[in-house]
Amino acid sequence: MDFGKVISDFDTGNATQHWLVTGCAGFIGSNLLQALLSANQRVTGLDNFATGHQRNLDEVQRLVSPEQWQGFHFIKGDIRNPADCQQAVSGVDYVLHQAALGSVPRSLADPVTTNEVNIDGFLNMLVAARDEGVKRFVYAASSSTYGDHPALPKVEANIGKPLSPYAITKYVNELYADVFSRSYGFHSVGLRYFNVFGPRQDPNGAYAAVIPKWTAAMIAGDKVVINGDGETSRDFCFVDNAVQANLRAALANIEQSEVFNVAVGDRTTLNELFSAIQNALASNGVAYPHCPQYVDFRAGDVRHSQADVSKARLMLGYLPSHTINEGLAVAMPWYIAQPA
Ligand SMILES: NC(=O)c1ccc[n+]([C@@H]2O[C@H](COP(=O)([O-])OP(=O)(O)OC[C@H]3O[C@@H](n4cnc5c(N)ncnc54)[C@H](O)[C@@H]3O)[C@@H](O)[C@H]2O)c1
Repeated sequence: MDFGKVISDFDTGNATQHWLVTGCAGFIGSNLLQALLSANQRVTGLDNFATGHQRNLDEVQRLVSPEQWQGFHFIKGDIRNPADCQQAVSGVDYVLHQAALGSVPRSLADPVTTNEVNIDGFLNMLVAARDEGVKRFVYAASSSTYGDHPALPKVEANIGKPLSPYAITKYVNELYADVFSRSYGFHSVGLRYFNVFGPRQDPNGAYAAVIPKWTAAMIAGDKVVINGDGETSRDFCFVDNAVQANLRAALANIEQSEVFNVAVGDRTTLNELFSAIQNALASNGVAYPHCPQYVDFRAGDVRHSQADVSKARLMLGYLPSHTINEGLAVAMPWYIAQPA
């Protein structure tokens, strides 16, 4: 997708804007960084490498021109430290706040650290952005906020009870954003991501997401484990869709705080996902002739998830550019190229 075109479709007055991407060494953050630098924007990045990697920044450097890379300034810092947040927002037009500790199981294993980063850190960023008077604060919210609400597809106004400490933190972010809007007139936009995937999503570690974990296992010929009966479903969203939503959320004319679903609007079961990855790898010459192994359901997991993306379409002009299979076709060569 031509992200420069997405930006230039909005009237930014001046072609080069200054963006802050927190969590820029992570999966979504590094894809935002790549898109912005490719569109000749100026970017400050903040990350403490808790789950992000220098190799992601190095890869972005290889993918943009030397002149575009000159537009990037990196700050190694922690959003739990207010001074780091203040330094990072200095002179910034738009904040794309991605830094957080993801993963439902991680939050169940260590709710305190997840709370510190995702709530205290979020509040530090919100205060810093408000005090700096940035034009727009866009933040990574989550589909986990729908919790136990049974309706499908998910519409923004109807949420249930959170099912994990992680989900609580993401909901609290939305509450703070709303209160800052009412109390200080500081408006922000939350993007409820639904299972984002794509290049640079980390396949390693206990808290890896399902697509990178299974893809890496299939490439290595290792076993693939499905939690539950495989009929659990998700609205898998290629990362370019999330990048597009961020740019639109930053630049669109919005008069109050809002949250938007960011997904495709489809639903894929884990059994279907297994076959889709198997087929996408086969198209790239990697055969995986084994069946998955089924184990118990995982605590804290939502059974079904599917987004209604009409609010983002109407208010942001968001149109997903990639279906799950189109996204997998882009992501597979990247995973295959990674060192074992
Ligand atoms: N990937 C998904 O499917 C998904 C779904 C819903 C919401 N989200 C949210 O999107 C955001 C980005 O997720 P991701 O998948 O890219 O994860 P990621 O782990 O790859 O990226 C998060 C980045 O934040 C950084 N970070 C963590 N704690 C920090 C701290 N205290 N100070 C500074 N930086 C810190 C990490 O080092 C990492 O680079 C997160 O807020 C996550 O909760 C992701």
